[in-house]
Amino acid sequence: MWDPAQYLNFADERGRPFYDLVGRIAASDPRHVVDLGCGPGQLTASLARRWPAADVLGIDSSAEMIAAAQQLATQASAPPDAGRGTGGRLRFVLRDVRDWRPGHPVDVIVSNAVLQWVPGHTDLLPLWAASLAPDGWLAFQVPGNFDQPSHVVLRDLIESPRWRPLLADVELNRQAENPARYVDLLARLGLTVDAWETTYLHVLRGDDPVTQWYKGTGLRPVLAALEPDAADEFTAEYSARVRVAYPLEPYGTVLPFRRVFVVAHKR
Ligand SMILES: C[S@@+](CC[C@H](N)C(=O)[O-])C[C@H]1O[C@@H](n2cnc3c(N)ncnc32)[C@H](O)[C@@H]1O
Repeated sequence: MWDPAQYLNFADERGRPFYDLVGRIAASDPRHVVDLGCGPGQLTASLARRWPAADVLGIDSSAEMIAAAQQLATQASAPPDAGRGTGGRLRFVLRDVRDWRPGHPVDVIVSNAVLQWVPGHTDLLPLWAASLAPDGWLAFQVPGNFDQPSHVVLRDLIESPRWRPLLADVELNRQAENPARYVDLLARLGLTVDAWETTYLHVLRGDDPVTQWYKGTGLRPVLAALEPDAADEFTAEYSARVRVAYPLEPYGTVLPFRRVFVVAHKR
């Protein structure tokens, strides 16, 4: 279960890669825009404001995220001339991205920080590329930080004798492919590909911010599999170890976070 409020605790830091990604989409007047794995929808809404003639559809498999996004769409559906309204062009649908089949060609497909949750996600890319209209854009971003303490500690704990019996079946998120694989896959399909990677150095505020960050994402399936007391115990063990790996400095806690970006254009 996703918790939109927990996820949005770091909305600025999580939004930054989205804007870096969509900043490389050069579509001028798209009609059909889709955000696959839209989460709580505030970033999807920014697409509707950027392209005032576009119908923008957000899709997510989390009922909690879609409920938050639909509430936002209702608030944002003021006429476009009423400030920041989206004029009812913003819609959200509960669906797995693997089941998404558009009824018409799409001008812009965005998927930010989603594919790490989809096993075998590279199999989806040819389908998504085939859904593009001529002059269409496919843009996605996937974290690539599995070797970082945030994930190493998580895997170590899950494998430990205390937790293995309770967590053997938990599905953790995965991570980005080698960026060159995305380039090869999409360029072979005839798209022009712009791929890059960035390590953000987020300076997080507050107590135990790295644990708070991952409670909104990577820790979620683990904590959901445990009874509340056990979840608290697991969180305390995780926190104790990540506080050492990411020490609190006088100005905050630095969380390095590598992400892989791909923007592919169908000419
Ligand atoms: C880290 S959040 C990113 C949300 C949003 N794109 C953003 O940038 O803030 C990951 C989102 O992917 C969604 N998700 C994960 N697997 C999915 C799937 N198979 N189909 C649809 N949505 C999925 C989750 O429900 C969650 O809302």
